[in-house]
Amino acid sequence: MSHTQTHPLNIVAVSGGLNTPSKTESLVQNILDELAAATAINVHFIKLSEIGPLLGGAIYRNQLPQRVQDDLAAIEAADALIVGTPVYRASFTGLFKHLFDFVEQTALVDVPVLLAASGGSDRHALVLEHQLRPLFSFFQAQTLPIGVYATDKDFTPEYTIKSEQLKDRITLAVARALPILEWAPAKGRRAQLVKEKTQQANQQLGINKQIEQDDVLPSAAVPSLNAAESRLHSKTVKSSVA
Ligand SMILES: Cc1cc2nc3c(=O)[nH]c(=O)nc-3n(C[C@H](O)[C@H](O)[C@H](O)COP(=O)(O)O)c2cc1C
Repeated sequence: MSHTQTHPLNIVAVSGGLNTPSKTESLVQNILDELAAATAINVHFIKLSEIGPLLGGAIYRNQLPQRVQDDLAAIEAADALIVGTPVYRASFTGLFKHLFDFVEQTALVDVPVLLAASGGSDRHALVLEHQLRPLFSFFQAQTLPIGVYATDKDFTPEYTIKSEQLKDRITLAVARALPILEWAPAKGRRAQLVKEKTQQANQQLGINKQIEQDDVLPSAAVPSLNAAESRLHSKTVKSSVA
């Protein structure tokens, strides 16, 4: 893609789905696949269906098993996040929130976050705007303008995506994300930069304990939308030829 990108992006995906199989995990995987087709990425995929039982009983971060501590370290070092959750009682799942309650509160400043959710009903599509976006705004993350919402009827019984509209929405969300991800702050260097914070958080942070905000990573420059336009355009041309 751009001459400015020298390293693969470290993408951390988080699914709040508790079931296996999970529509939310399928949705997040489809977004990852679309992104991987467009640019080089390394992926760390955190599934609450796997770590939920390890997480639920912990109040302090140092009570968490090493696997979950490693997941938190990956979130804090990510170049960008893709987060998805099923809608439970008009919000994210409790365990999705519980995981982010442990995330060090300045580690996501300026980090691009693509928001996704799956629900049983169209009527809860604004969960993206009213639940997920405020959570990541708290973290001063750069929530991406286009989120992806799916409902049960967008999936086959095997939980693959059957809806063409949903596929197009994923393409649009990724196309619009690309120029921003390209300028993600400190690409490939975040792991080193946040290491100390992560270590401190692992040792000390309980859910209610705050630490003072200190230096943050540099803000992203204003991106060009040309990459998004050309990707969208090439998809339109391909589908009209087919
Ligand atoms: C406890 C529970 C609460 C739910 N609450 C809602 C809700 O408030 N609104 C909605 O649209 N769907 C709701 N649903 C439906 C799920 O969000 C939907 O089936 C989702 O796609 C499941 O994702 P998963 O396959 O990843 O588990 C609920 C499901 C459960 C199990």
